[in-house]
Amino acid sequence: MKLWGGRFTKETNQLVHNFNESISFDRKFYRQDIAGSIAHVTMLAKQGILSEADRDAIVAGLNGIREDIDSGKLEITTEYEDIHSFVEAVLTERVGDAGKRLHTGRSRNDQVALDMRLYIRDEIDETDGLLFELLKVLLGLMEENLHTYMPGFTHLQKAQPVTLAHHLGAYYEMFRRDRGRLADIRKRMNYCPLGSGALAGTTYPLDRAYTAELLGFDGPTLNSMDSVSDRDYLIELLSALSIIAMHLSRFSEEIIIWNSNEYRFVEMDDSYSTGSSIMPQKKNPDIAELIRGKTGRVYGALMSMLTVMKGIPLAYDKDLQEDKELTFDAIDTVKGCLALFTGMVSSMSFRKDVMEESAKKGFTNATDAADYLVGRGVPFRDAHGVIGRLVLKCIDEGKALDDLTLEEFKAECPAFESDIYEAISMKTCVERRTTDGAPGAEAMRRVIEIYKKELEQGVSHA
Ligand code: ARG
Repeated sequence: MKLWGGRFTKETNQLVHNFNESISFDRKFYRQDIAGSIAHVTMLAKQGILSEADRDAIVAGLNGIREDIDSGKLEITTEYEDIHSFVEAVLTERVGDAGKRLHTGRSRNDQVALDMRLYIRDEIDETDGLLFELLKVLLGLMEENLHTYMPGFTHLQKAQPVTLAHHLGAYYEMFRRDRGRLADIRKRMNYCPLGSGALAGTTYPLDRAYTAELLGFDGPTLNSMDSVSDRDYLIELLSALSIIAMHLSRFSEEIIIWNSNEYRFVEMDDSYSTGSSIMPQKKNPDIAELIRGKTGRVYGALMSMLTVMKGIPLAYDKDLQEDKELTFDAIDTVKGCLALFTGMVSSMSFRKDVMEESAKKGFTNATDAADYLVGRGVPFRDAHGVIGRLVLKCIDEGKALDDLTLEEFKAECPAFESDIYEAISMKTCVERRTTDGAPGAEAMRRVIEIYKKELEQGVSHA
């Protein structure tokens, strides 16, 4: 059962085994463990450290184990300490002595460092794929809503009119940066620790560059002590995942507000909403709330990992085993949230009329009204005062600025002419904003072209 019984005279205490084992969670990367072992023995045989016959027996055995675990024929059981022991034990059972040669020139320290990197690399790619899907949905909605006017907010108070496309575009930028962060992390972590041994390399003539190449890495890592104890890439990933979770949470919060009875900007699809056991009228945005709530555990994982690492003397220490559960949980949480969020947004309907009405009622064109006066020679500070007084009048009378008669405009300032209505229409306010990054459709189209070209490149490592 154990890889290290030789120097012991007593059985391990059962509680110690339970506390020490990692197979209950590192079973998650059995495929990566097997792929790493296949690359290792392929290299050993190339270097003449292992016979070709042994290599072939081991590779066939390992492939069989993977297939049997995949199909459910072989169950990963917890009397083993970790997935590495399990695979080696089953291999030896199946192919005999060759199996006992698998671990030549290797330690579980470099093995687990490799497995985790391989696993994380795959998960980065999957997360990138989910972000890609979300961006596609957002881009589609942006194209449909270039002229859907809505209030833009500061301090959650109506500020200036924007479009739904532009508002969604802000989130597009966030998730686009998230993809960039994942790509950066992937690039920096893509070096192979295998061959670092327990901490000090090995005396066997390993070809580390070859193993690295077989496993799709950009090369071997360059310091064996760092290699077995480096978990920076996990901290970077947890940080990137925390930022993704934060973005999803902000967006969820807005959707919850938009879906409230007071706003009614959006309507959640029934298939993405839940009801109340007591209040028959309720249709609740539980999914958005859960996504917002799950942010906490992702942040928690980042803080845990930073704390695990802060006192670890070189090189490997068992504390490092704590990297797994929390990282797995954070990844699974964020992937789940991304998939659910994409489904929720693509099934949601937007009440464009309510949005536009809300922009009108909220004096979001007040800045443009002041600018109109500036265009007619009124100093900005005076124009600001004029419009302020008109807004006050409108609030008293329950009106929008556009509802005032020309006489009422002129009574406050004679510079107003009949073209004021055109100048402060939602359409004019928005469409005149055409500088890079602004909400006008002309500017948005240029940006959308950039996004489309990027999306054509697909996911980074598919
Ligand atoms: N389960 C261990 C981990 O996750 C594997 C490495 C064990 N190495 C050791 N020297 N005990 O870190």
